[in-house]
Amino acid sequence: PNPPFVTRTLPYGDAALAEAAAEIARGGCVAVPTETVYGLAADATDSRAVAGIYAAKGRPSFNPLIVHVIDLAAARAMARFDAAAEALAARWWPGPLTLVLPLADDSPVASLVTAGLPTVAIRVPAHRAMQALLEATGRPLAAPSANASGGISPTRAAHVAASLDGRIALILDDGPTPAGIESTIVDVAQGLVLRPGPITADDLGLATHEGSGPITAPGQLASHYAPAKPLRLDATSARPGEWMIGFGDVSGDDTLSPTGDLVEAAARLFDALHRADASDRAAIAVAPVPQHGLGEAINDRLRRAAVRD
Ligand code: TXA
Ligand code: MG
Repeated sequence: PNPPFVTRTLPYGDAALAEAAAEIARGGCVAVPTETVYGLAADATDSRAVAGIYAAKGRPSFNPLIVHVIDLAAARAMARFDAAAEALAARWWPGPLTLVLPLADDSPVASLVTAGLPTVAIRVPAHRAMQALLEATGRPLAAPSANASGGISPTRAAHVAASLDGRIALILDDGPTPAGIESTIVDVAQGLVLRPGPITADDLGLATHEGSGPITAPGQLASHYAPAKPLRLDATSARPGEWMIGFGDVSGDDTLSPTGDLVEAAARLFDALHRADASDRAAIAVAPVPQHGLGEAINDRLRRAAVRD
């Protein structure tokens, strides 16, 4: 069982970074923003530290974690890069793209990170707070989204606090995350997008894995981003008892984007779901979002949020 913590939220800065790096060095985990969502970071080479992530999240141990590194050279020490991987990294890192690659023979990544898979998911983040923590610790950092397992990904420090209060020591607060949805995951060997994200399949010139066969990204489990309340998709108006999340011309109690801007909608998505969950209404309805561009990632998260366990 996880020890109880007094969870502190510290504004981003030198003092907060020093405390966060010390917490990581002693094998703890720290919530830190990335350009996508807040992550719960620990030393990826320390299996006890990684176990602490699983414990804090209550995450099933078969679900592997993404390793964050400071640069491409650090990534090459963890995973085997072929020409396709090199090209993707050169084009998109630092940024919200996660590459699934074969583990390097002498990879220092703890096997708990990969949940025993022969591959590792790895990315170079673009956010100053995560970059500074990587720099200060000098460690590769495993970091899933900083929410209790099965919950909505956090895009603000307050979301992390609501989900993990008492389960972690420290939250680095550097404001809302810019992209608002998790990184795009690409299986490089298969040339497939496993999880749509801020960098679209079109941007990458790749197809998206349609999840019916074996689960290659366990995060593709159908119910993964679920709010506590039932959620109805493609709604054009609220039914009694529903909190309505609009988009474009469809208005409601809240909106993903009044102008129908998909970038704004992605950035606001999880915040809107958090607020819907916290409202006095028993159910949630969401307006239709077009499937093009970032709409693919938004609809992917909405469909998962609508699945009941
Ligand atoms: O934007 C993001 O990716 C955020 C920030 C914190 O970086 N992290 C994030 O992590 O979303 P998480 O743990 O919530 O999602 C990681 C996903 C899961 O779906 C997991 O199953 C998949 O990556 N994954 C990890 N390692 C994998 C591997 N070796 N093969 C296939 N999928 C993998
Ligand atoms: Mg997650």
